[in-house]
Amino acid sequence: MKILGIETSCDETAAAIVENGNQILSNVVVSQIDIFAEYGGVIPEVAARSHLETILPVIHKSLRDAKLDFEDIDAIAVTHTPGLTGSLLIGTLTARTLAILKRKPLYAVHHLKSHIYANWLSADNPPHFPLLALVVSGGHTQIIYMREHNHFEIIGTTRDDAVGECFDKVAKILGLPYPGGPAIDQTAQNGNPKRYPLPHPKVSNLDFSFSGLKTAVLRTIQAELGLSIKTPSFELKNHLSTQQIADFAASFQNTACDILLEKLSLALQSHPNIQSIVLAGGVSANQTLRTKTQSIFSKQYQIYFPEPRFSGDNGAMVAAAAYFESLTHTPPTNPYTLSIAPRTPIH
Ligand code: KG4
Ligand code: ZN
Repeated sequence: MKILGIETSCDETAAAIVENGNQILSNVVVSQIDIFAEYGGVIPEVAARSHLETILPVIHKSLRDAKLDFEDIDAIAVTHTPGLTGSLLIGTLTARTLAILKRKPLYAVHHLKSHIYANWLSADNPPHFPLLALVVSGGHTQIIYMREHNHFEIIGTTRDDAVGECFDKVAKILGLPYPGGPAIDQTAQNGNPKRYPLPHPKVSNLDFSFSGLKTAVLRTIQAELGLSIKTPSFELKNHLSTQQIADFAASFQNTACDILLEKLSLALQSHPNIQSIVLAGGVSANQTLRTKTQSIFSKQYQIYFPEPRFSGDNGAMVAAAAYFESLTHTPPTNPYTLSIAPRTPIH
């Protein structure tokens, strides 16, 4: 079954064709990073306009790269929640129109399911159930229990900022470029992760909190520089040396990863039959997170990370998620009535 997957939930315009949920026939991603690097973050109206200009050329390229025509495609899949309203609208309206015109079944896919199913792309030995997925992206931080395909139970979630958002905000304080996650990952390689000890939040059960960590970094920088806590965060980068920036990046990254993995350990204790651990979402590209996950858990569990090209937003993961929906007999959606939703929990 060949599925065209379309993704426009944030600032990547993407389309891909995937056969049977894991063979990549094409994968086209046009990122708007260059546009938003100038502003230091995504501007929703600009993102939607850019998707509008790019979406059709991206879909055509995905067909050309796969050497296929529309007639060869069995279904279309699109992200319809969660994400930026204007961005989601461009992808879903395009997919609805194509599904009607080309008479194809249409699957409406939840973005976090797609991130999880990125782990099935090109996998010779896919994850085994039951599994725990640690979903770490710009908008979400969740631990999700999957008993089988298409069964998702949120067992832990963030009470405030997502971990990716925290990487982005700390990067901004340190004067690193947008997007902050990859910049921290790279800068931290030259830093000492033990130089600035940072607190772990005290949150009961399996939930997370990341807003305190961002503030702790801010206060530690102010103290290190001998500046008042009233010094605005945007001024601090001008006073930091290159080595201090690297040490703050490494200390923050190390703490953020430890917080995530401590909760994952707790979740594993309360779910004794888990076979696999799956990392998903943009932050799953983080080198320290990958290394620490392997070193702590690989003796007991199979560990999965998406290929780096599938850890951020892409259309292939949308096609994969739709394939597994079709396998479990989830009916396609009505292209005349499909609507978007900026926020819907995975279910
Ligand atoms: O999954 P994603 O591409 O978009 C959302 O669904 O949100 O995640 C984007 C997030 C951003 O916060 C970005 O800074 C972060 O993933 N990110 C990283 C890395 N690469 C991307 N964070 C830490 N280390 C990385 N290497
Ligand atoms: Zn995403």
